[in-house]
Amino acid sequence: MSNYHIKHLEEYWQVYRRSVRNPENFWEEIAEEHFLWRKRWDKVLSWDFSKPEVKWYEGAQLNITENCIDRHLATRADKTAILFEPNDPAEATQHITYRQLYERVCRFANVLAEQGVGKGDRVCIYLPMIPELAVSLLACARLGAVHSVVFAGFSATALATRINDCDCKLVICSDGSYRGSKTIDLKAIVDKALEECPGVETSLVVKRTGGQVTMQGGRDKWLQPLLDAADAQRDATIVDAEDPLFVLYTSGSTGKPKGMVHTTGGYMVYTAYTFKNAFQYRENDVYWCTADIGWITGHSYIVYGPLANGATTVMFEGVPSYPDYGRFWEIVEKHKVTQFYTAPTAIRALAKENLDFVNKHDLSSLKVLGTVGEPINEEAWHWYNENVGKKNSPIIDTWWQTETGGIMISPIPYSTPTIPTFATLPMPGIQPVLMDENGKEIKGNGVEGRLAIKFPWPSIARTIYGNHERYRDTYFSAYPGTYFTGDGALRDAVGYYRITGRVDDVIIVSGHNLGTAPIEDAINEHPAVAESAIVGYPHDIKGNALYGYVTLKETGEGRDQDNLRNEINQLITDRIGPIAKLQKIQFTAGLPKTRSGKIMRRILRKIAGKDTSNLGDISTLLNPEVVQAIMDESLA
Ligand code: WTA
Repeated sequence: MSNYHIKHLEEYWQVYRRSVRNPENFWEEIAEEHFLWRKRWDKVLSWDFSKPEVKWYEGAQLNITENCIDRHLATRADKTAILFEPNDPAEATQHITYRQLYERVCRFANVLAEQGVGKGDRVCIYLPMIPELAVSLLACARLGAVHSVVFAGFSATALATRINDCDCKLVICSDGSYRGSKTIDLKAIVDKALEECPGVETSLVVKRTGGQVTMQGGRDKWLQPLLDAADAQRDATIVDAEDPLFVLYTSGSTGKPKGMVHTTGGYMVYTAYTFKNAFQYRENDVYWCTADIGWITGHSYIVYGPLANGATTVMFEGVPSYPDYGRFWEIVEKHKVTQFYTAPTAIRALAKENLDFVNKHDLSSLKVLGTVGEPINEEAWHWYNENVGKKNSPIIDTWWQTETGGIMISPIPYSTPTIPTFATLPMPGIQPVLMDENGKEIKGNGVEGRLAIKFPWPSIARTIYGNHERYRDTYFSAYPGTYFTGDGALRDAVGYYRITGRVDDVIIVSGHNLGTAPIEDAINEHPAVAESAIVGYPHDIKGNALYGYVTLKETGEGRDQDNLRNEINQLITDRIGPIAKLQKIQFTAGLPKTRSGKIMRRILRKIAGKDTSNLGDISTLLNPEVVQAIMDESLA
């Protein structure tokens, strides 16, 4: 029996029980047998969720790029590490071998070092899904520098906030990006952001589209000539297991985005382990995750997890609808993809299109299908199972979070029976609990509650960058002694988990987590707006869409409402990005409030979702009359 590679359900249970009975031994053995350490740890785990503090493999030293690249050179130098599929199908696929990846990472690391980047420095990466994106993460890691990737769909303001929050001195960006038929002028967004970022000394610019850009003397440098001049070899900087590997921002229900800090050793072990098991990865597989590296899914399961296993990982620059809705399936056929990992929102969008887009491609290479990012609805699950998997590829519904670093609850394909909409069983080492509203654990099966985790796992985020107190308050104060996820879940009669969705003010739109507060702040900047409240409502492709209730100041009352709607959405686009735009905006005379002045979002959510049969007791509201008014005006 192997702890590292689970092959059937009984084995899962044995491994799981062992992982819970003695987590230190379990994770020690895996770390010992499957990774390259420059110095062994003194202690496997120390933890205290009240501080909170978690340390794995303390005292150990390593470099994650030696694990993801160097150690494969002996046996896999000519194997494709990254298979790059460009936006335009007419442009050639790139096969980057492990040896080439080694050279590219070393050159890039040398360039960064020349620009003054060293161990512990933060580097912001704002790039489209091109090979330089993966290479730049690894180049930072090679130097022990901390990368902070910002999804290249965020606006200048959002980018600037993130650059400043983690005090980046260098930014890696590109001239532009391709997304389907669109070309986006990324450099202009960066230029605008950098007006607000006095700490940034250098920006390195990758040439992708060849579009017009303004290069600011002294600050902006084209990357390619620097790479050409750099040495193709560089020793890895050895870091401590608990040194930070990256910061990645995620939305909270209130306030600024949270810079989740992940450290090196535990993150590496856990992402590699879960990649191997959740995807049942084998040596000659071609693995494809369609996420963007701007999100945690891309960090853990396009870059680090697959490369630590010596896998071939596909990077796709484009979108599922370009040049037509068959693009995903064309790529699966072309590269004989064996594991395919995507988001429910993409599945729902593709399920709306003609089945011929799927059926004209040979998908017989597929062995495992994955989903992540939000609950998958039953209809989408069946569509995926029948039309993509031909009922032959198990679907793994993987539940996890930016904060957890890796997959937490998921079937092990070919071992765990799958059930539509169920993430099923915890990965080895993960100890989920359900809590009631009074903070008591709900034991037994056939129960529903709030999902928390009562024991640390190697890739748990260690803090929020620059704000440990917020880290404690957000995750460890709801149920002292456990990590609170913010999600609701049920555990069925046999102990399988189904995630029911967020229980806080985070709304997941097309798989992107959006906090309501920053969006409301953006809307409230509009001079005609008095107040606003955002809620989510069910949307058949996006999962949830945003519904905004807006009250106007007197000055706004005579204004054309469609113009106002456009202006409000433009503000949101400027402050956050197009992903946060409101689907519907209703202007109302007032918002329902409690006597203490809190907006009753629960009621607004029901109205937006056209579920007004049971609004609960509204008589205690400060202004019960507005509820009827809002319902009467509610948008068709
Ligand atoms: C939601 C993405 C149901 C959940 C890796 C979580 C899911 C949030 C699932 C984290 C799933 C993710 N089923 N809900 N399989 N996967 N979620 O940080 O609400 O972008 O808390 O990490 O997405 O989103 P994040």
